[in-house]
Amino acid sequence: MLSEKLEKALNDQINYEYYSAYTYLAMSAYADDLGFVGVANFFQVQAKEELDHAKTIYNFVMQKGGKIELEAIEKPKSTYDGLLDVFETALEHEKEVTSRIYNLMNIATDEREYATTSFLKWFIDEQVEEEDNFTNIVRKIKTFSSDSSNLYLIDNQLASRVYTPSVPASSQNA
Ligand SMILES: [Fe+2]
Repeated sequence: MLSEKLEKALNDQINYEYYSAYTYLAMSAYADDLGFVGVANFFQVQAKEELDHAKTIYNFVMQKGGKIELEAIEKPKSTYDGLLDVFETALEHEKEVTSRIYNLMNIATDEREYATTSFLKWFIDEQVEEEDNFTNIVRKIKTFSSDSSNLYLIDNQLASRVYTPSVPASSQNA
């Protein structure tokens, strides 16, 4: 059984993962408008991963006999000040996700809810990758964007990102 506090925190995280998907979809649309189809693709893939994260937590709450309480999803920001702003905002967003996952882990640890701490471990590792990804792209844009033709190359590179389901092995068939 999940405590009320943990159940509420996990439901909040489901909502935040959907909000993340929304945020990245908005970033994709913004990039598309500017003609950066590679960046648009990158954020489409990112949004799909966030939907996977939401569903993974949803499945876990169900498995634990908890109650799902879906809330309204906040409207995402839709305008940015260019590509660097988009990726810097995305990096900040991922840092916020990390702190929320840490907070969940703190609650589960305090409650000695080991099934939940074990479940959250995957998300903690995933956040290291997410922050690293965005940090690298921000760095690349900062270093090379003084020549606008380089942005074209970065866009081309991001066009190659392909979606592969991003879920822990334990919930792959859920
Ligand atoms: Fe996520």
